[in-house]
Amino acid sequence: MPLADLLIVLFYLALFAGIISILYFERKGFVISMPVMPWVYGRVKKLLLAHTDTTKPYRIAELGSGWGGPLLSLARSYKQAELTGYEISPVPYFISKLRTFFHRRIKIFNANFFGVDLSGFDIIYCYLLPRDLEALKPAFLTMKKGSLVVSCSFPVEGWQTIEADNVKAGVNVPVFLYRI
Ligand SMILES: C[S@@+](CC[C@H](N)C(=O)[O-])C[C@H]1O[C@@H](n2cnc3c(N)ncnc32)[C@H](O)[C@@H]1O
Repeated sequence: MPLADLLIVLFYLALFAGIISILYFERKGFVISMPVMPWVYGRVKKLLLAHTDTTKPYRIAELGSGWGGPLLSLARSYKQAELTGYEISPVPYFISKLRTFFHRRIKIFNANFFGVDLSGFDIIYCYLLPRDLEALKPAFLTMKKGSLVVSCSFPVEGWQTIEADNVKAGVNVPVFLYRI
């Protein structure tokens, strides 16, 4: 088989395997790896910037860090921060690792965020389903007093926001900011 044909076959096999992997993780009950649009996480960041000091060495985590866009964006503004992402689905994890390859301050783990010790983080960003936010409540409460949790699309039920926003991006995307 000529090399060009072989490369095309390999490309389609990789694409097929990638799609199967994404669907598999969705069917296992994890949210599909739908990335937040840049203008949405731009507003998430704006909300955070209003309540934080970008010169501080914060520890920031993204739970379900998808394709890496929000972590890269946050790293640009929080130049002293260490950023950690947890992503269970291999394909977005792999792409996010490629995108953040040269960013020493960003670490991304191919891991389930349930069971991760969140007590050392100052800021947590997530775009998850209400059932996940509910299950994460005890872990959020282990964070230091004054730490921030920002959630895209869904609120943490029963919690009082310190600020909220509503991004009109085709559909409305509400953003909720909480202080522990
Ligand atoms: C809606 S996407 C959001 C992606 C990214 N945070 C963004 O804003 O662009 C949710 C991500 O969470 C991941 N995820 C869902 N449950 C997870 C879990 N228990 N542990 C780690 N990642 C998880 C999914 O694979 C998916 O990539």
